[in-house]
Amino acid sequence: MKIAIVVGTRPEIIKMSPIIKACRERRIDHFILHTGQHYSYNLDSVFFSDLGLPQPKYNLEVGSGTHAEITGRAMTGIERVLAKEKPTCLLVEGDTDSVLAGALAAAKTGIRVGHVEAGLRSYDRRMPEEINRRLADHISDYLFAPTIKSRKILEEENVPGKIFVTGNTIVDAVNQSLEAATKKSAIVDSLGLEKSGYFLATVHRQENVDDRKNIARILESLEAVAGMDIPIVYPMHPRTGKMLEKFNLKSRADGIRNLKIVEPLSYLDFLSLEANARLILTDSGGIQEEACILKIPCVTLRSSTERPETVEVGGNAIAGLEAAAVVNCVHAMLRKKRTWKNPFGDGTAGRKIVRILRGSEMGLAS
Ligand code: UD1
Ligand code: UDP
Repeated sequence: MKIAIVVGTRPEIIKMSPIIKACRERRIDHFILHTGQHYSYNLDSVFFSDLGLPQPKYNLEVGSGTHAEITGRAMTGIERVLAKEKPTCLLVEGDTDSVLAGALAAAKTGIRVGHVEAGLRSYDRRMPEEINRRLADHISDYLFAPTIKSRKILEEENVPGKIFVTGNTIVDAVNQSLEAATKKSAIVDSLGLEKSGYFLATVHRQENVDDRKNIARILESLEAVAGMDIPIVYPMHPRTGKMLEKFNLKSRADGIRNLKIVEPLSYLDFLSLEANARLILTDSGGIQEEACILKIPCVTLRSSTERPETVEVGGNAIAGLEAAAVVNCVHAMLRKKRTWKNPFGDGTAGRKIVRILRGSEMGLAS
Protein backbone atom coordinates (compact mmCIF):
# COMPACT_ATOMS: atom_id res chain seq x y z
CA MET A 1 0.00 0.00 0.00
CA LYS A 2 1.19 3.50 -0.83
CA ILE A 3 -0.88 6.60 -0.08
CA ALA A 4 -0.70 9.95 -1.88
CA ILE A 5 -1.88 12.67 0.51
CA VAL A 6 -3.03 15.76 -1.37
CA VAL A 7 -3.13 19.19 0.26
CA GLY A 8 -3.65 22.58 -1.36
CA THR A 9 -4.90 25.14 1.15
CA ARG A 10 -4.60 26.14 4.81
CA PRO A 11 -7.48 24.01 6.14
CA GLU A 12 -6.37 20.93 4.19
CA ILE A 13 -2.88 21.10 5.74
CA ILE A 14 -4.43 21.38 9.21
CA LYS A 15 -7.02 18.63 8.73
CA MET A 16 -4.65 16.21 6.96
CA SER A 17 -2.01 16.62 9.67
CA PRO A 18 -3.45 13.90 11.97
CA ILE A 19 -3.52 11.47 9.01
CA ILE A 20 0.06 12.28 8.06
CA LYS A 21 1.10 11.74 11.68
CA ALA A 22 -0.80 8.43 11.85
CA CYS A 23 0.91 7.24 8.63
CA ARG A 24 4.30 8.13 10.10
CA GLU A 25 3.52 6.36 13.43
CA ARG A 26 2.42 3.21 11.63
CA ARG A 27 5.25 3.41 9.09
CA ILE A 28 2.87 3.40 6.16
CA ASP A 29 4.35 4.28 2.81
CA HIS A 30 2.98 7.72 1.92
CA PHE A 31 3.94 11.04 0.42
CA ILE A 32 2.55 14.57 0.56
CA LEU A 33 1.53 16.16 -2.70
CA HIS A 34 0.92 19.92 -2.34
CA THR A 35 -0.88 21.56 -5.25
CA GLY A 36 0.40 25.00 -4.21
CA GLN A 37 -3.08 26.55 -4.35
CA HIS A 38 -2.05 28.36 -1.15
CA TYR A 39 1.55 29.56 -1.24
CA SER A 40 1.88 32.70 0.95
CA TYR A 41 3.96 31.95 4.04
CA ASN A 42 1.05 32.65 6.42
CA LEU A 43 -1.41 30.45 4.48
CA ASP A 44 1.02 27.60 3.86
CA SER A 45 4.57 27.06 5.26
CA VAL A 46 3.72 28.32 8.73
CA PHE A 47 1.32 25.38 9.18
CA PHE A 48 3.98 22.80 8.32
CA SER A 49 6.22 24.16 11.08
CA ASP A 50 3.39 24.72 13.62
CA LEU A 51 2.10 21.18 13.09
CA GLY A 52 5.52 19.51 12.92
CA LEU A 53 4.91 18.16 9.41
CA PRO A 54 7.57 17.09 6.91
CA GLN A 55 7.91 19.13 3.73
CA PRO A 56 5.77 17.91 0.80
CA LYS A 57 7.58 15.59 -1.60
CA TYR A 58 5.97 17.49 -4.47
CA ASN A 59 4.76 21.07 -4.77
CA LEU A 60 2.99 21.75 -8.06
CA GLU A 61 2.97 25.53 -7.51
CA VAL A 62 -0.37 25.98 -9.26
CA GLY A 63 -0.86 29.36 -7.54
CA SER A 64 -3.97 31.51 -7.89
CA GLY A 65 -6.40 31.90 -10.78
CA THR A 66 -9.93 31.07 -11.85
CA HIS A 67 -11.43 27.81 -10.62
CA ALA A 68 -10.76 26.16 -13.98
CA GLU A 69 -7.16 27.39 -13.99
CA ILE A 70 -6.46 26.10 -10.49
CA THR A 71 -8.28 22.81 -11.03
CA GLY A 72 -6.79 22.25 -14.49
CA ARG A 73 -3.19 23.02 -13.50
CA ALA A 74 -3.53 20.87 -10.38
CA MET A 75 -5.04 17.94 -12.30
CA THR A 76 -2.28 17.95 -14.89
CA GLY A 77 0.42 18.05 -12.23
CA ILE A 78 -1.23 15.42 -10.04
CA GLU A 79 -1.65 13.06 -13.00
CA ARG A 80 2.07 13.35 -13.74
CA VAL A 81 3.02 12.56 -10.13
CA LEU A 82 0.61 9.62 -9.98
CA ALA A 83 2.12 8.13 -13.14
CA LYS A 84 5.57 8.33 -11.56
CA GLU A 85 4.75 7.26 -7.99
CA LYS A 86 1.99 4.73 -8.71
CA PRO A 87 0.30 4.96 -5.29
CA THR A 88 -2.48 2.50 -4.54
CA CYS A 89 -4.74 5.23 -3.24
CA LEU A 90 -4.99 8.99 -2.95
CA LEU A 91 -6.53 10.98 -0.13
CA VAL A 92 -8.17 14.38 -0.46
CA GLU A 93 -9.73 16.40 2.36
CA GLY A 94 -12.67 18.79 2.18
CA ASP A 95 -14.05 20.75 -0.74
CA THR A 96 -11.44 22.94 -2.43
CA ASP A 97 -10.43 23.07 -6.08
CA SER A 98 -7.37 20.99 -5.13
CA VAL A 99 -9.70 18.29 -3.78
CA LEU A 100 -11.66 18.09 -7.01
CA ALA A 101 -8.44 18.01 -9.04
CA GLY A 102 -6.94 15.21 -6.92
CA ALA A 103 -10.09 13.10 -6.91
CA LEU A 104 -10.63 13.44 -10.68
CA ALA A 105 -7.02 12.80 -11.64
CA ALA A 106 -6.81 9.66 -9.48
CA ALA A 107 -10.24 8.24 -10.34
CA LYS A 108 -9.49 8.47 -14.07
CA THR A 109 -6.14 6.74 -13.74
CA GLY A 110 -7.55 3.85 -11.74
CA ILE A 111 -6.14 4.91 -8.37
CA ARG A 112 -8.54 4.50 -5.47
CA VAL A 113 -9.73 7.78 -3.95
CA GLY A 114 -10.44 8.41 -0.27
CA HIS A 115 -12.45 11.52 0.58
CA VAL A 116 -11.87 12.78 4.09
CA GLU A 117 -14.80 14.88 5.40
CA ALA A 118 -17.27 13.32 2.99
CA GLY A 119 -21.02 13.91 3.00
CA LEU A 120 -21.16 17.59 3.93
CA ARG A 121 -23.84 19.61 2.12
CA SER A 122 -24.81 23.27 2.34
CA TYR A 123 -27.36 22.86 -0.48
CA ASP A 124 -26.13 26.26 -1.68
CA ARG A 125 -25.04 25.88 -5.29
CA ARG A 126 -23.50 29.39 -5.35
CA MET A 127 -20.60 27.93 -3.39
CA PRO A 128 -17.76 26.45 -5.47
CA GLU A 129 -17.12 24.20 -2.49
CA GLU A 130 -20.57 22.60 -2.77
CA ILE A 131 -19.83 21.58 -6.36
CA ASN A 132 -16.39 20.25 -5.43
CA ARG A 133 -17.57 18.20 -2.46
CA ARG A 134 -20.52 16.66 -4.32
CA LEU A 135 -18.32 15.59 -7.24
CA ALA A 136 -15.55 14.29 -5.00
CA ASP A 137 -18.05 12.21 -3.00
CA HIS A 138 -19.45 10.60 -6.11
CA ILE A 139 -16.09 9.50 -7.53
CA SER A 140 -14.49 8.32 -4.29
CA ASP A 141 -13.95 4.71 -3.27
CA TYR A 142 -13.65 5.45 0.46
CA LEU A 143 -15.87 8.07 2.05
CA PHE A 144 -14.78 9.14 5.51
CA ALA A 145 -17.89 10.78 6.92
CA PRO A 146 -17.33 12.82 10.08
CA THR A 147 -20.81 12.19 11.54
CA ILE A 148 -23.82 9.90 11.22
CA LYS A 149 -25.67 12.78 9.58
CA SER A 150 -23.06 12.99 6.81
CA ARG A 151 -23.23 9.21 6.33
CA LYS A 152 -26.99 9.48 5.90
CA ILE A 153 -26.59 12.16 3.23
CA LEU A 154 -24.19 9.93 1.31
CA GLU A 155 -26.49 6.92 1.62
CA GLU A 156 -29.44 8.96 0.35
CA GLU A 157 -27.39 10.06 -2.66
CA ASN A 158 -26.42 6.44 -3.37
CA VAL A 159 -22.72 7.16 -3.68
CA PRO A 160 -20.93 4.11 -5.09
CA GLY A 161 -18.02 4.14 -2.62
CA LYS A 162 -17.78 2.60 0.84
CA ILE A 163 -18.80 4.85 3.74
CA PHE A 164 -17.09 4.94 7.17
CA VAL A 165 -18.03 7.23 10.07
CA THR A 166 -14.74 8.34 11.60
CA GLY A 167 -15.29 11.72 13.26
CA ASN A 168 -13.58 14.82 11.88
CA THR A 169 -9.77 15.07 11.93
CA ILE A 170 -10.15 18.68 13.10
CA VAL A 171 -10.79 17.32 16.61
CA ASP A 172 -7.46 15.45 16.48
CA ALA A 173 -5.73 18.60 15.16
CA VAL A 174 -7.16 20.78 17.94
CA ASN A 175 -6.26 18.22 20.62
CA GLN A 176 -2.74 17.83 19.21
CA SER A 177 -2.07 21.60 19.15
CA LEU A 178 -4.05 23.20 21.97
CA GLU A 179 -1.44 22.63 24.66
CA ALA A 180 1.33 24.04 22.47
CA ALA A 181 -0.91 27.00 21.60
CA THR A 182 -1.55 27.69 25.28
CA LYS A 183 2.15 27.43 26.15
CA LYS A 184 3.76 29.08 23.16
CA SER A 185 1.39 31.72 21.82
CA ALA A 186 1.44 35.20 23.30
CA ILE A 187 -1.01 36.58 20.74
CA VAL A 188 -3.77 37.59 23.19
CA ASP A 189 -1.35 39.82 25.11
CA SER A 190 0.52 41.07 22.09
CA LEU A 191 -2.72 42.30 20.49
CA GLY A 192 -3.58 44.05 23.77
CA LEU A 193 -6.63 41.82 24.38
CA GLU A 194 -8.03 40.31 27.54
CA LYS A 195 -9.10 36.68 27.83
CA SER A 196 -12.86 36.43 27.15
CA GLY A 197 -12.84 40.16 26.51
CA TYR A 198 -12.95 40.18 22.70
CA PHE A 199 -14.73 38.72 19.70
CA LEU A 200 -12.83 36.94 16.92
CA ALA A 201 -14.00 37.36 13.30
CA THR A 202 -13.04 35.81 9.95
CA VAL A 203 -14.75 36.18 6.57
CA HIS A 204 -13.45 34.85 3.25
CA ARG A 205 -16.16 32.93 1.37
CA GLN A 206 -16.32 33.81 -2.31
CA GLU A 207 -20.12 34.35 -2.28
CA ASN A 208 -19.67 36.76 0.65
CA VAL A 209 -16.62 38.78 -0.29
CA ASP A 210 -16.58 38.80 -4.12
CA ASP A 211 -20.00 40.48 -4.09
CA ARG A 212 -19.95 44.22 -3.29
CA LYS A 213 -23.36 44.22 -1.62
CA ASN A 214 -22.56 41.25 0.56
CA ILE A 215 -19.15 42.47 1.68
CA ALA A 216 -20.69 45.89 2.48
CA ARG A 217 -23.40 44.12 4.53
CA ILE A 218 -20.71 42.23 6.42
CA LEU A 219 -18.91 45.49 7.25
CA GLU A 220 -22.21 46.94 8.50
CA SER A 221 -22.75 43.87 10.66
CA LEU A 222 -19.24 44.02 12.10
CA GLU A 223 -19.73 47.72 12.80
CA ALA A 224 -23.02 46.99 14.58
CA VAL A 225 -21.40 44.26 16.70
CA ALA A 226 -18.41 46.52 17.43
CA GLY A 227 -20.97 48.96 18.82
CA MET A 228 -21.32 46.57 21.80
CA ASP A 229 -17.97 48.00 22.92
CA ILE A 230 -16.14 44.70 22.85
CA PRO A 231 -13.09 44.72 20.56
CA ILE A 232 -13.25 42.48 17.49
CA VAL A 233 -10.01 41.01 16.15
CA TYR A 234 -10.11 40.02 12.50
CA PRO A 235 -7.22 38.10 10.85
CA MET A 236 -8.06 38.91 7.25
CA HIS A 237 -7.78 36.37 4.42
CA PRO A 238 -5.99 37.85 1.35
CA ARG A 239 -9.07 37.28 -0.84
CA THR A 240 -11.05 39.61 1.43
CA GLY A 241 -8.27 42.22 1.49
CA LYS A 242 -8.12 42.13 -2.31
CA MET A 243 -11.90 42.55 -2.64
CA LEU A 244 -12.06 45.44 -0.13
CA GLU A 245 -9.48 47.25 -2.27
CA LYS A 246 -11.34 46.44 -5.48
CA PHE A 247 -14.66 47.76 -4.12
CA ASN A 248 -13.01 50.83 -2.49
CA LEU A 249 -14.15 49.64 0.93
CA LYS A 250 -10.74 49.28 2.59
CA SER A 251 -10.82 52.65 4.36
CA ARG A 252 -14.42 51.97 5.45
CA ALA A 253 -13.23 48.70 7.09
CA ASP A 254 -10.16 50.37 8.62
CA GLY A 255 -12.38 53.10 10.07
CA ILE A 256 -14.63 50.80 12.11
CA ARG A 257 -14.04 51.60 15.75
CA ASN A 258 -13.16 48.54 17.88
CA LEU A 259 -12.34 46.44 14.80
CA LYS A 260 -8.70 45.34 14.67
CA ILE A 261 -7.72 43.91 11.30
CA VAL A 262 -4.55 41.80 11.32
CA GLU A 263 -2.73 39.51 8.88
CA PRO A 264 -3.68 35.80 8.74
CA LEU A 265 -2.20 34.02 11.77
CA SER A 266 -0.28 30.82 12.41
CA TYR A 267 -2.28 27.86 13.71
CA LEU A 268 -0.99 28.14 17.27
CA ASP A 269 -1.78 31.86 17.42
CA PHE A 270 -5.19 31.42 15.85
CA LEU A 271 -6.10 28.51 18.12
CA SER A 272 -5.08 30.57 21.12
CA LEU A 273 -7.25 33.48 19.92
CA GLU A 274 -10.19 31.12 19.39
CA ALA A 275 -9.85 29.41 22.76
CA ASN A 276 -9.78 32.73 24.62
CA ALA A 277 -12.49 34.56 22.62
CA ARG A 278 -15.84 35.52 24.10
CA LEU A 279 -17.52 34.67 20.80
CA ILE A 280 -16.55 33.93 17.19
CA LEU A 281 -18.12 35.45 14.06
CA THR A 282 -17.19 33.58 10.88
CA ASP A 283 -18.13 32.22 7.49
CA SER A 284 -15.39 29.56 7.66
CA GLY A 285 -16.23 25.87 7.76
CA GLY A 286 -13.33 24.77 9.93
CA ILE A 287 -13.77 27.63 12.37
CA GLN A 288 -17.44 26.74 12.98
CA GLU A 289 -16.17 23.28 13.95
CA GLU A 290 -13.30 24.52 16.11
CA ALA A 291 -15.56 26.99 17.96
CA CYS A 292 -17.93 24.12 18.71
CA ILE A 293 -15.10 21.85 19.89
CA LEU A 294 -13.58 24.59 22.08
CA LYS A 295 -17.05 25.54 23.44
CA ILE A 296 -16.85 29.11 22.21
CA PRO A 297 -20.21 30.44 20.97
CA CYS A 298 -20.25 30.97 17.21
CA VAL A 299 -22.31 33.20 14.92
CA THR A 300 -22.08 32.19 11.27
CA LEU A 301 -22.22 34.98 8.70
CA ARG A 302 -23.98 32.92 6.05
CA SER A 303 -27.50 31.75 5.30
CA SER A 304 -26.64 28.04 5.38
CA THR A 305 -24.10 25.67 6.85
CA GLU A 306 -22.77 22.27 5.86
CA ARG A 307 -22.03 21.78 9.57
CA PRO A 308 -25.61 21.62 10.96
CA GLU A 309 -24.37 19.52 13.89
CA THR A 310 -22.86 22.69 15.40
CA VAL A 311 -26.29 24.36 15.39
CA GLU A 312 -28.12 21.27 16.65
CA VAL A 313 -25.89 20.94 19.72
CA GLY A 314 -26.45 24.65 20.47
CA GLY A 315 -22.97 26.01 19.70
CA ASN A 316 -23.70 27.96 16.52
CA ALA A 317 -26.32 30.33 15.11
CA ILE A 318 -26.77 30.93 11.37
CA ALA A 319 -27.27 34.67 11.15
CA GLY A 320 -27.18 35.60 7.47
CA LEU A 321 -25.52 38.93 6.69
CA GLU A 322 -27.98 41.60 7.89
CA ALA A 323 -26.74 43.66 10.83
CA ALA A 324 -29.91 43.40 12.96
CA ALA A 325 -30.01 39.61 12.62
CA VAL A 326 -26.29 39.29 13.35
CA VAL A 327 -26.55 41.43 16.50
CA ASN A 328 -29.59 39.39 17.67
CA CYS A 329 -27.68 36.15 17.16
CA VAL A 330 -24.66 37.53 19.04
CA HIS A 331 -26.86 38.39 22.03
CA ALA A 332 -28.60 35.01 21.89
CA MET A 333 -25.32 33.08 21.70
CA LEU A 334 -23.79 35.10 24.56
CA ARG A 335 -26.67 33.97 26.78
CA LYS A 336 -26.03 30.28 26.01
CA LYS A 337 -24.56 27.94 28.59
CA ARG A 338 -21.42 26.39 27.14
CA THR A 339 -22.42 22.84 27.93
CA TRP A 340 -22.91 21.44 24.45
CA LYS A 341 -21.21 18.24 23.33
CA ASN A 342 -18.66 18.11 20.54
CA PRO A 343 -20.43 16.28 17.66
CA PHE A 344 -17.27 15.63 15.62
CA GLY A 345 -15.81 12.59 17.36
CA ASP A 346 -13.20 11.68 19.94
CA GLY A 347 -10.02 12.96 18.27
CA THR A 348 -8.94 9.63 16.77
CA ALA A 349 -10.27 10.17 13.23
CA GLY A 350 -6.77 10.30 11.68
CA ARG A 351 -5.79 6.95 13.15
CA LYS A 352 -9.15 5.39 12.28
CA ILE A 353 -8.85 6.49 8.66
CA VAL A 354 -5.35 5.03 8.36
CA ARG A 355 -6.48 1.79 10.02
CA ILE A 356 -9.46 1.45 7.68
CA LEU A 357 -7.29 2.15 4.64
CA ARG A 358 -4.71 -0.37 5.69
CA GLY A 359 -7.35 -3.07 6.28
CA SER A 360 -9.15 -2.40 3.00
CA GLU A 361 -6.05 -1.99 0.86
CA MET A 362 -4.45 -5.14 2.28
CA GLY A 363 -7.70 -7.00 1.61
CA LEU A 364 -7.70 -5.81 -1.99
CA ALA A 365 -4.05 -6.74 -2.48
CA SER A 366 -4.48 -10.33 -1.22
C1 UD1 B 1 -9.82 28.43 -0.91
C2 UD1 B 1 -10.94 27.40 -1.05
C3 UD1 B 1 -11.92 27.56 0.10
C4 UD1 B 1 -11.20 27.49 1.44
C5 UD1 B 1 -10.04 28.49 1.46
C6 UD1 B 1 -9.25 28.30 2.72
C7 UD1 B 1 -11.65 26.78 -3.33
C8 UD1 B 1 -12.73 26.90 -4.33
N1 UD1 B 1 -11.70 27.63 -2.28
O1 UD1 B 1 -10.40 29.71 -1.00
O2 UD1 B 1 -12.88 26.52 0.05
O3 UD1 B 1 -12.12 27.81 2.44
O4 UD1 B 1 -9.18 28.25 0.33
O5 UD1 B 1 -8.62 29.47 3.13
O6 UD1 B 1 -10.78 25.97 -3.47
N2 UD1 B 1 -4.09 34.28 -2.14
C9 UD1 B 1 -2.91 34.77 -1.60
N3 UD1 B 1 -2.01 33.86 -1.12
C10 UD1 B 1 -2.21 32.52 -1.20
C11 UD1 B 1 -3.38 32.05 -1.76
C12 UD1 B 1 -4.32 32.94 -2.23
O7 UD1 B 1 -2.70 35.96 -1.49
O8 UD1 B 1 -1.34 31.78 -0.73
C13 UD1 B 1 -5.10 35.24 -2.63
C14 UD1 B 1 -5.03 35.45 -4.14
O9 UD1 B 1 -5.34 36.78 -4.39
C15 UD1 B 1 -6.15 34.56 -4.63
C16 UD1 B 1 -7.17 34.64 -3.50
O10 UD1 B 1 -6.40 34.74 -2.33
O11 UD1 B 1 -6.67 34.96 -5.86
C17 UD1 B 1 -8.11 33.46 -3.42
O12 UD1 B 1 -7.36 32.24 -3.34
P1 UD1 B 1 -8.02 30.84 -3.78
O13 UD1 B 1 -7.09 29.76 -3.46
O14 UD1 B 1 -8.56 30.94 -5.17
O15 UD1 B 1 -9.30 30.74 -2.89
P2 UD1 B 1 -9.52 30.97 -1.33
O16 UD1 B 1 -10.42 32.15 -1.17
O17 UD1 B 1 -8.23 30.97 -0.62
N1 UDP C 1 -6.82 29.53 10.66
C1 UDP C 1 -5.53 29.90 11.03
N2 UDP C 1 -5.17 31.23 10.96
C2 UDP C 1 -6.04 32.20 10.56
C3 UDP C 1 -7.36 31.81 10.20
C4 UDP C 1 -7.70 30.47 10.25
O1 UDP C 1 -4.73 29.05 11.43
O2 UDP C 1 -5.66 33.36 10.54
C5 UDP C 1 -7.19 28.10 10.69
C6 UDP C 1 -8.38 27.77 11.56
O3 UDP C 1 -7.98 27.48 12.88
C7 UDP C 1 -9.02 26.59 10.86
C8 UDP C 1 -8.65 26.80 9.41
O4 UDP C 1 -7.60 27.75 9.38
O5 UDP C 1 -8.46 25.36 11.28
C9 UDP C 1 -9.84 27.32 8.65
O6 UDP C 1 -9.44 27.72 7.39
P1 UDP C 1 -10.33 28.66 6.47
O7 UDP C 1 -11.28 29.43 7.30
O8 UDP C 1 -9.38 29.42 5.63
O9 UDP C 1 -11.07 27.62 5.51
P2 UDP C 1 -12.42 26.75 5.62
O10 UDP C 1 -12.37 25.96 6.86
O11 UDP C 1 -13.56 27.71 5.57
O12 UDP C 1 -12.37 25.94 4.39
